[in-house]
Amino acid sequence: MEWKWRTIIEPFKIKSVEPLGFTTREERLRILEAAHYNLFNIRAEKILIDLLSDSGTGAMSAAQWGALMQGDESYAGARSYYNFENEIRSLTGFAEIIPVHQGRAAEKILFTLIGGKGKYVVSNSHFDTTRANVEFSGAAAMDFPCREALDFERPAPFKGNADLRAMEKFIKEKGAGNIPLCIMTVTNNSLGGQPVSMENLKGAQALCRKYGIPMFLDCARFAENAYFIKLREKGYGGMPVRKIAEEMFELADGTWMSSKKDAFANMGGFLAMNNKDWASRARQMLILTEGFATYGGLAGRDLEAIAVGLREVLDENYLQYRLRSAEYLGTGLTGHGIPIINPPGGHGVYINAKKLLPHIRPQNFPGQSLACRLYLEGGIRACEIGTLMFGRRDAAGKFLPAPMELVRLAMPRRVYTQSHIDYVIEVLGAIAKDTGSMKGLDVVEAPAALAHFTAKLRPAAEENRPRKHHVQKTTIR
Ligand code: F0G
Repeated sequence: MEWKWRTIIEPFKIKSVEPLGFTTREERLRILEAAHYNLFNIRAEKILIDLLSDSGTGAMSAAQWGALMQGDESYAGARSYYNFENEIRSLTGFAEIIPVHQGRAAEKILFTLIGGKGKYVVSNSHFDTTRANVEFSGAAAMDFPCREALDFERPAPFKGNADLRAMEKFIKEKGAGNIPLCIMTVTNNSLGGQPVSMENLKGAQALCRKYGIPMFLDCARFAENAYFIKLREKGYGGMPVRKIAEEMFELADGTWMSSKKDAFANMGGFLAMNNKDWASRARQMLILTEGFATYGGLAGRDLEAIAVGLREVLDENYLQYRLRSAEYLGTGLTGHGIPIINPPGGHGVYINAKKLLPHIRPQNFPGQSLACRLYLEGGIRACEIGTLMFGRRDAAGKFLPAPMELVRLAMPRRVYTQSHIDYVIEVLGAIAKDTGSMKGLDVVEAPAALAHFTAKLRPAAEENRPRKHHVQKTTIR
């Protein structure tokens, strides 16, 4: 009899390594000040563990590095393009395959074609670049997350689902003719990297068919989504994950992918569909902004790496390890009483900073304060998804906080080992015991849009500091 082992191990061995950037607390304090408490301004070599994004930060396999040397760099008709096209066609079933340099390039092209004033794009949740591109076209981006998604504490298997009833009500209200597209984002990055069930995708397809609206998948993390379906949805436990992924794509009329995620590529993406008219107009835009139809802003070697990555990502040993990694981090944090979006998503863990730091007002950025503290104490970089990213002022100048204050710990693929994650848990555990000393931040300077990339901040002025908590010795200065 074959014994079953409980320990899920990293399903790879390490062939090439890169040193980590060790610094002292004193150095990090100086670095933080020089970076104006904006972690995007810190040089990556001064980061010990970088959980800012899982995008383009993965480790390629030996097979991918080998494929790079096979890259055909011909301007037109490169062999690498046909390898790329074949791989995507066989996975997604779509006829028209258009390479782009990254996900948002596909979004820009698509919404230039189908967006515009007076139109509405509906979705389980738009990712922020998707929303920005929809809005830039003049259209409105409408999110219909399911109810469970908004309750961070209570676990549910498919918190990435759309609220199809609310979506249908909206379609009826605005008229299907004004809705050029429904987007299902798999997994749902904006709300915790949570999966969408096959049942919900089928429901969305039926709804879209009923009203004649095309449905596209934003499939940056399609493989993680498919593996969640295998683990959690009735009827899929025994199905190969590739088949599940194929079934997801079959329900849609098209898709786009940031291949910097589930294709293990450092750069790249594609737009794919069956609609010949849209595809031909998209290719005209592509030539204008990205490049010729057989390379679209990518080198031949990038196309090869993506083709190999799309096959590798569906390895079930990999996916088991991948989802287990986020779960391991999530369990470690909840063990320290740290509130997270529960259960953890596919590509990382989202800390609920509003709950962890109730004494810091939204205008003093609890999420960003926590992210800065995490860097100060542990050299770890995370990403705020809260008022720094989404806070607004209305026409009268009234401050409108974001609905949530999250800190995302996004895990690069195949990059960090379990001891790195143990370290992150230890650092956060210590911070969670010392939150009373945290004072929040004030804005020094911020642009009107996409403020989080360039905003300058400083420790909150005395009059803005929380009063209820007693002052302790260590402060985030
Ligand atoms: N769609 C989703 C669901 C994404 O997560 C991203 C990027 C994009 C589209 C845009 O793709 O970056 O290749 O242009 N997400 C990154 C992140 C930036 O950190 O979550 P891109």
